[in-house]
Amino acid sequence: MEKTDTKNRLLVELKQVTKAYAPKKRWFVRSSQPVLALNSIDLGIEHGEVFGLVGQSGSGKTTTGRLLAKLESPTAGEIYFDKTPISQLKGVRLKAYRSRVQMIFQDPYQSLNPHLSIAETVLEPLMVQGIGTRDTRMEKVVHTLDLVGLSPGEAFCHRYPHQLSGGQRQRVAIARAIVLEPQFIVADEPTSMLDATIAIQLFKLLQEIKETFGMTFLFITHNLAAARYMCDRIAVIHEGHIVEVNTAENIIRHPEHPYTKKLIKVQPGFKYGR
Ligand SMILES: Nc1ncnc2c1ncn2[C@@H]1O[C@H](COP(=O)(O)OP(=O)(O)OP(=O)(O)O)[C@@H](O)[C@H]1O
Ligand SMILES: [Mg+2]
Repeated sequence: MEKTDTKNRLLVELKQVTKAYAPKKRWFVRSSQPVLALNSIDLGIEHGEVFGLVGQSGSGKTTTGRLLAKLESPTAGEIYFDKTPISQLKGVRLKAYRSRVQMIFQDPYQSLNPHLSIAETVLEPLMVQGIGTRDTRMEKVVHTLDLVGLSPGEAFCHRYPHQLSGGQRQRVAIARAIVLEPQFIVADEPTSMLDATIAIQLFKLLQEIKETFGMTFLFITHNLAAARYMCDRIAVIHEGHIVEVNTAENIIRHPEHPYTKKLIKVQPGFKYGR
């Protein structure tokens, strides 16, 4: 895939990032260990690449995404965005970070506020960031809806999430994520709730968006075929550890770690070493 002159410059870097969750309280269990969702992981994501994070359920993928979107903080370690440690961002700089980094969630049925119209949903980030005037904001909303394939945008503005299909809802979530033209998008299994044909349409849309805006993506999935289709490089995560990072082709054709080999074996239609 074509890269810009920013190739090899890291936009995002995770250094020895650990996230521990307190154990869930159960009356019949006297004491239990914290859940180590991430165990000292190191990762670097280059400017302009689609970086895949692949692993089975519970491996720590969403946790990584949530830490990057600063919805939660690491227990230890540091995340750098454009060389700045994000733990130190406050006030105006934190607000700016929130406009530069966006997250698309797995479930388009839960990620949209049912009480907001589609226009209000996409408008909200512009309002929060204080961008534009009333008129220019609405223009931007309509234009963004068109861009994500909800066309004509005006026709969708006054609808509510329950009046849309799952695929259309996810397009609204994508519109909301890109309306601020962020530099980095975390897409957390954005198509796993949708059928295969809709998923492929959304993959194409995400690729178009990447080409149009030159955004960097973290693409989270448990599906290696999807990761191969979408990503330049892939990291394989297992029980909170990154076990392997390589180009998408090398991960599929020449997996090195036993866990990656196992992951490929359990995916239908995949054989490694071809
Ligand atoms: N808020 C939380 N409180 C306690 N434990 C949590 C919390 N969030 C995640 N975990 C635990 O952390 C581990 C990693 O969870 P995470 O959601 O990151 O996995 P995942 O790779 O995204 O899985 P999936 O493919 O099912 O979405 C799991 O064991 C999970 O139960
Ligand atoms: Mg998850």
